Amino acid sequence: MPSIQIYIGQNEDIPEKFHEQYFALRQQCEEEWNGFLAPSLDYYRNFWIIPREKGSAKMKAIAVNENNLVIGFGVIFWNTMYENLDRSWFRLYVIPKERRKGVGSRILKEMVKVLPKEIKKVGADSPKHSPGEHFLQKFNEKHSYEEVIIIVDLEEAVLKDVEKEAKKQREHALSNGYRIVRVDDGDYKSHFDEEGFVKIVEQVWNDMPREDLTEEDMNITVERYQAIQERNKKTGQKYISFVAVHEETEKPVGYTTFAINKYQPAIAWQDETGIIPEHRGNGLGLAIKYLSLLTLLKETKAKYWRTSSAQSNKYMHRINEILGHKIWQSEPVYEFERKIVEELLSE
Ligand SMILES: CC(C)(COP(=O)(O)OP(=O)(O)OC[C@H]1O[C@@H](n2cnc3c(N)ncnc32)[C@H](O)[C@@H]1OP(=O)(O)O)[C@@H](O)C(=O)NCCC(=O)NCCS
Repeated sequence: MPSIQIYIGQNEDIPEKFHEQYFALRQQCEEEWNGFLAPSLDYYRNFWIIPREKGSAKMKAIAVNENNLVIGFGVIFWNTMYENLDRSWFRLYVIPKERRKGVGSRILKEMVKVLPKEIKKVGADSPKHSPGEHFLQKFNEKHSYEEVIIIVDLEEAVLKDVEKEAKKQREHALSNGYRIVRVDDGDYKSHFDEEGFVKIVEQVWNDMPREDLTEEDMNITVERYQAIQERNKKTGQKYISFVAVHEETEKPVGYTTFAINKYQPAIAWQDETGIIPEHRGNGLGLAIKYLSLLTLLKETKAKYWRTSSAQSNKYMHRINEILGHKIWQSEPVYEFERKIVEELLSE
């Protein structure tokens, strides 16, 4: 292993002279991971100073070689409130030239060493068949979940056709007793009772297939939801949502949201899409996604739309197929017992 020094902890524990190198590595990691242009460096500079929302904690680590070059980093985060209080999630990155020399293992070992004692599990994802997955496989576990990443080349979409189809889908929803409302920047409270809307969000989040993941259901309060949204907005995200409303009861029954970050304007990131079970089968999922597509084409500079869903989510795959989405890669998620990781890393 190269001779390295690990700095670990909160922002103040990472010497300022390494910050710019750290931001560059974060960018490099994202580009390698996703296979498309990452946000500009200003995104990472800005991200650095945004505190995590209440109930969530994070630690970071960098590995510096004898020439004062940052050759790798790690981040690990966990909840301090709400749910899943016994687990953490990490990400590691080592520059290609310094891989297979034990640096990734060393960063992880140092991070796990200082995790609060309540944390009993550590989890991570990685692109399938990548060096990252090979690294995770060293802990001898099968993956618990697989997320399929889908990319739409928006330049291939024909505006006139999308306009026609979006109109047809909206009318179809109306004829089934649902109207579709657009909400900008997460301002749901101007349109709906906020508590009721957040309950729908909670239901949609908890209803996503989790395959073999052992995570508990999330407990989403209005305060927590607002905190997550506010933090995401500070990172540069702009949101557009389409909400399906059941006309008879005037209640929202599902929604879809996408975000474009001002530091990465060419990529639209799909957030979640969900219709609560009692209202499925009315074409609402497809209708709200068509309206998103139309909005992306007419109002944004996005060239690609990145979306994803669980490998097992057949209905979402069907909708994405109709919309012309193409599978880009898949990202397995691994969960490990902390004890096993500690034991293996101590060898
Ligand atoms: C994941 C990553 C951080 C690993 O860093 P690293 O410094 O190369 O890892 P280590 O040298 O500590 O590897 C430890 C062991 O993992 C396994 N491993 C790591 N990379 C591997 C690869 N490409 N192929 C097969 N096994 C691999 C091996 O068992 C290795 O031990 P060995 O070299 O003695 O055989 C690095 O590959 C990376 O930055 N990838 C891109 C980011 C990513 O995908 N992260 C996902 C994990 S959160």
